[in-house]
Amino acid sequence: MNEHLTVVDHPLVQHKLTMMRETDTPTAVFRQLLREISHLLAYEVTRSLPVTMKAIETPLCEMDAPVIEGRKLALVSILRAGNGLLDGLLELIPQARVGFVGLYRDEETLQPVQYYFKVPTQLDERLTIVVDPMLATGNSSVAAIDLVKEAGATDIRFLCLLAAPEGVARMKEAHPDVPIVTASLDSHLNEKGYIVPGLGDAGDRMYGTK
Ligand code: URA
Repeated sequence: MNEHLTVVDHPLVQHKLTMMRETDTPTAVFRQLLREISHLLAYEVTRSLPVTMKAIETPLCEMDAPVIEGRKLALVSILRAGNGLLDGLLELIPQARVGFVGLYRDEETLQPVQYYFKVPTQLDERLTIVVDPMLATGNSSVAAIDLVKEAGATDIRFLCLLAAPEGVARMKEAHPDVPIVTASLDSHLNEKGYIVPGLGDAGDRMYGTK
């Protein structure tokens, strides 16, 4: 994967994203749509996942056929909204190892504050996909990727649902080696750091906390 930013403009993704953006979409539907979109985005973000060959028997003959080595993949969710994408990815790749980065955004400085960090061992041998639905200022994503790099990861991708140009620029500056996959590059951030047009607070919309 060479491009720094890939926008998945497939009609199925765009249709589901439109439903998620709508204010009146209920929590349960929002969560279900996020799960469905995460399957479609997974297709793109795992495009170059290495496969190994396995000897199998079809009803007609023996053959060497490709299989994914799930143990070579680490999914790292930025809590709490990252878990919505994580759940869908795990449905597709249940063998993947999973890590969590707990960061909350200080509402005044918009800077990330770390409260939890637990990731799989041997990250240097794994493709590491860091997930968070919203790439807004980029502060949390940059901090999370700093942490997974410190833990040994070298082959990293970032998966989000929506990205703001400000966040993409910040990521490109801090982590030019980390490709980003998203469903949309939105217009801008507002004065509170929300993505416009966006979908509001992803965590609140997923869990009905507002
Ligand atoms: N986090 C969110 O949940 N929404 C935004 O628009 C920006 C950051």
